[in-house]
Amino acid sequence: MKALVLAGGKGTRLRPLTHTSAKQLVPVANKPVLFYGLEAIRAAGITSVGIVVGDTGAEVREAVGDGSRFGLEVTYIPQDAPLGLAHCVLIARDFLGDEPFVMYLGDNFLIGGIADLVDAFGAAGHDAQILLTKVAEPQFYGVAELGPDGQILRLEEKPANPRSDLAIVGVYTFSPAIHEAVRSIEPSARGELEITDAIKWLIDHGYSVHSHFVSGYWKDTGRLQDMLECNRIVLEAIRPDIRGSVDGASEISGNVVVEAGASVEGSVIRGPAVIGAHTVIRDSYVGPYTSIGESCLIRDSEVEYAIVLRDSSITGISRLTYSLIGRNVEVTRAQGMPNACQLMVGDHSKVQVRA
Ligand code: TTP
Repeated sequence: MKALVLAGGKGTRLRPLTHTSAKQLVPVANKPVLFYGLEAIRAAGITSVGIVVGDTGAEVREAVGDGSRFGLEVTYIPQDAPLGLAHCVLIARDFLGDEPFVMYLGDNFLIGGIADLVDAFGAAGHDAQILLTKVAEPQFYGVAELGPDGQILRLEEKPANPRSDLAIVGVYTFSPAIHEAVRSIEPSARGELEITDAIKWLIDHGYSVHSHFVSGYWKDTGRLQDMLECNRIVLEAIRPDIRGSVDGASEISGNVVVEAGASVEGSVIRGPAVIGAHTVIRDSYVGPYTSIGESCLIRDSEVEYAIVLRDSSITGISRLTYSLIGRNVEVTRAQGMPNACQLMVGDHSKVQVRA
């Protein structure tokens, strides 16, 4: 069994971060979301992994390397343009050979791993296995409609009028039959080769396609709110670990990780929260569900329910919440008159200001 991990794509929903960096590398509790997937693949006993990369390929290669630190052997498969999930299977044909494989969307987050799914697939001998879970907004997902005895009646990609609330989770298992399917389908109206169309092709041609309900937590981290929620879920399970320095004037409560070289001075930290290596928290409050990346500065500020990426600083801000701050960002208090906000914000950014 091999694994095909998709780490290309456009990432339009996480702009502006994705203008300059890979969405699969946005950290959840200070670890890139992609790494959770790679660890789950290794835990399922798979070692041969192909990673599809696009414009942000250099950054993904730098982060993952040859995969040896995950116990994996990684082959990179460049995709010239994000032409769809089934297109990724098409271009990975040589890497995949005639082995069954698990396809894992690199921005998906699944708690509980994939070992059971991979074992179940191997034992049952199906040609494809999809995972389903109930979601509140099915129009944003691939959606499956099941018959009375669980057979798949219909699959639709991001339907305007969903016929069920069962979303297709971004972890699929396939036999080599999928190769003929991805060669046989045509691009959809949005110009992509859709994996849902390839799976439909398998069903229509008499192959066995099985659906399986996900019992654990799953999120597609493509949007800000999903990213923040994943961060919350992972932080809820962390154990306290103070490796940096915390001075006597600071107060730490709940589960808090302070990584090596970080310094907490005259501050209050209410966990769960993670403070990255070499970050300084000075005269500030860091509230629950916050991950501060490495080499950041939080001074005279209050931050909670947020993800702050490395090398950023927040100074003099009375309360920042429900926020995702990119790398090398400066957020400061405006001085002098007029009493106004001063912004220099990148394309496709979202800023909410309490006027
Ligand atoms: P999506 O989140 O469906 O697509 P996207 O990355 O283009 O994002 P957005 O909708 O915000 O514009 O992709 C799921 C995963 O698959 C993600 O990790 C990116 C990856 N992917 C590829 O590697 N190649 C592709 O052609 C596509 C469409 C996605």
